[in-house]
Amino acid sequence: MRIQNMNVKMVIILFFTGFLSLSSSAQKTFKNSRNTILLTDNWKFAKDIKEDASSSSYNDSKWSTVSIPHDWAIYGPFDKKWDIQITAIEQNGEKIATEKTGRTGALPHIGSGWYRKTFTLPQFQQGKRALIVFDGAMSEPEVYLNGKKIGQWGYGYSYFYIDITKDIIIGSKNVLAVKLTNQPYSSRWYPGAGLYRKVSIIVKDTESFEQWSTFVTTPLVNNNLATVNIKTNANGTNCSMVTIIKDAKNNIIATAKSPKSVDGKFDQTINVTNPQLWSPETPHLYTAVTQLISNDGTLKDEEITKFGIRSIKYEPEIGFSLNGKTIKFKGVCLHHDLGPLGAAINKAALKRQLTILKDMGCNAIRSSHNMPSFEQLELADEMGFLFLAESFDEWAKPKVKNGYHRFFEDYAEKDIVNLVRATRNHPCIVMWSAGNEVPDQYGAEGLKRAKFLQDIFHREDPTRPVTVGMDQVKQTMASGFGSLLDIPGLNYRVHLYEDAHKAFPQGFILGSETASTVSSRGIYKFPVKQYKNKQYDDLQCSSYDLEACSWSNLPDEDFVLQDDKPWVIGEFVWTGFDYLGEPTPYDEKWPSRSSYFGISDLAGLPKDRFYLYRSRWNTTDKTLHILPHWNWKGREGEITPVFVYTNYESAELFVNGKSMGIQKKNNATPQNRYRLMWNDVKYEPGTIKVVALDSNGKAVAQNEIHTADTPYKIVLNPDRKTIKADGEDISFVTVSVVDKNGIPCPLADNQLKFEVNGAGTYRAACNGDATSTEMFHKNTMKLFSGKLIVLVKATKKAGTITLKVSGNGLQSGIINLKSTN
Ligand code: GAL
Repeated sequence: MRIQNMNVKMVIILFFTGFLSLSSSAQKTFKNSRNTILLTDNWKFAKDIKEDASSSSYNDSKWSTVSIPHDWAIYGPFDKKWDIQITAIEQNGEKIATEKTGRTGALPHIGSGWYRKTFTLPQFQQGKRALIVFDGAMSEPEVYLNGKKIGQWGYGYSYFYIDITKDIIIGSKNVLAVKLTNQPYSSRWYPGAGLYRKVSIIVKDTESFEQWSTFVTTPLVNNNLATVNIKTNANGTNCSMVTIIKDAKNNIIATAKSPKSVDGKFDQTINVTNPQLWSPETPHLYTAVTQLISNDGTLKDEEITKFGIRSIKYEPEIGFSLNGKTIKFKGVCLHHDLGPLGAAINKAALKRQLTILKDMGCNAIRSSHNMPSFEQLELADEMGFLFLAESFDEWAKPKVKNGYHRFFEDYAEKDIVNLVRATRNHPCIVMWSAGNEVPDQYGAEGLKRAKFLQDIFHREDPTRPVTVGMDQVKQTMASGFGSLLDIPGLNYRVHLYEDAHKAFPQGFILGSETASTVSSRGIYKFPVKQYKNKQYDDLQCSSYDLEACSWSNLPDEDFVLQDDKPWVIGEFVWTGFDYLGEPTPYDEKWPSRSSYFGISDLAGLPKDRFYLYRSRWNTTDKTLHILPHWNWKGREGEITPVFVYTNYESAELFVNGKSMGIQKKNNATPQNRYRLMWNDVKYEPGTIKVVALDSNGKAVAQNEIHTADTPYKIVLNPDRKTIKADGEDISFVTVSVVDKNGIPCPLADNQLKFEVNGAGTYRAACNGDATSTEMFHKNTMKLFSGKLIVLVKATKKAGTITLKVSGNGLQSGIINLKSTN
């Protein structure tokens, strides 16, 4: 249930749903057993102020008013001066320091920011214990309540909480102040800035469950019976614990009661007959309602935990199995930014990403290289994605001057404990990662650190294995580092998979990071050749998908290993979507400011590579995708190869009705095995058509693309026509331009304008061009390769929302969306 208190502008979530079976004396006090208050609206914010703003009486009336989640840097402007890093990127094999302009996104995230929030909590009948929970604060948060410093943290990606029982005033005014500081040279990508994830206050009874102590596991799983084990710690003695298990339809399917516990520790095992198992195809979820009951029957606390019933196993030569079935990770790595929204968490944006990935047939996510958001894990549970939850990009040895190594000594254990305890009930998580390409792969101290960290994961969660993404593979074979890990993860280094498999005792290898192929949506370069670190004058990369970095490789080379070696347990492609920062191969070239690695671009629009992965990963739908586009004025008569990404084995290609012959997948090269390629096609405007053939040579499907005339009309295509009137939900509208005949114009780069009226607001636009310096929140942007997306946000009032997109000389596009309560 969600109640909005208009006076204090915050959302209070009362966890008392489903309490049906206790005595009426308990029900009298039940409502107030636990209250979670989200601190969302009416925060005051200022950046880089000189003075200390921690005091309750500080005058913040001139500061801007913002809502949380908030990313102060995403409003730009893009400028090469922000966080210029003069450095040699050693992981990339560089020896000489050069100027890296867009490494962290060329956005103003460096500096300090203050957030202040005044609020009054209502009286609670039995509220005597209070915590403030930060889902993430970028970075080095210092937290003050009513003028007193109550805590601080280091890593901006960590979840942490502070006990504020003694400092909070229930029933009258409180002032919360948070200072955040981002150092230059502290990241290898865009980290965002500010309170970019949720902030909440939990008020509960003195006798209550300890924060993040409840651990739900399913030790026995088969089709007829599962056991659900619940371990938890309560603060308070003489209480008993009741657990109610409900299925997805909210039916109570099992209950258990534990007797009084003297030390506050509980351990229950409950049988569930005929369980509905959780898997990516069937993401069935259950709910455990755990209740702490005092001697006189009063409900002291209640927690609601979603969980899934599933078993996982990793076996030599067999690999990973879920519920007894061997499956491979068809995964992608994701950085945390949401493109035009920056780091500010938004569930609609996350859900859209996962919807796009689901269509591609992707079944797994790696939260590179840090803790995932709770929202992303909830969605992965609900939508069916396996999850590799990562923690660090650095341990004690630096990659960047002010990176995590500054915190490692004091915080590493606390950071892992919080990661594991806060997220271990998510069935999607099937593996932890203690680090990514840490320079500590070298040296005896590094080996010790690997053990230290892995042991913490094991202590906090004995049910899941631990990996590290290793790039120094030879070194880790020699030192014992790779042998120590539960799961040896190789980043790239396809040529070392066989050796590593022989050298490591685990009997399997994970492609913890693969491909790092680069491309720009809709851009094609000639001649069509394989390249490493290739650069062009326009600072784009070719979408023939043949360009990678010196340390990385093309997708097809990973596919060979995945298909031919049963002991390779899957891959996590770098990356599912483009992200802000790390514009390799143009790290030194302004204005490149976001990555080229994505399978989809920064706007979430699929590049051609999307269809290459889809053709192999999505085994239920057919893919028959043609590239490049067919608008090559000036290339008439020149060789313009045509590739088709498809799950059909062979196809015939026609240019303006003339056959270019039949191509069949074959083992000549990795590319021949996974792509159909007509390398000698000469360009002539018109139509290219591909006809897919079955094994008897019979035509079974076809697709065609056409040369477009001049841009004529704007076309709008929303991902969702109806959104929620909650002030947060977003419809992502794809904007494209077609000619008079409705043919998409792949080269259109018109400057467009956006106008939103009614029950929504214009939030941002993004065209996926890694070199664009147009700001996302401004209501104008150029098309890139004929497309962009516009983000339309709901207000809190239900109604009709109208988006109008216009551009000089073009017929405007208008669409009505709806928002509902
Ligand atoms: C890897 C690294 C990633 C990213 C990628 C680019 O070595 O783990 O964070 O930098 O290279 O190819």
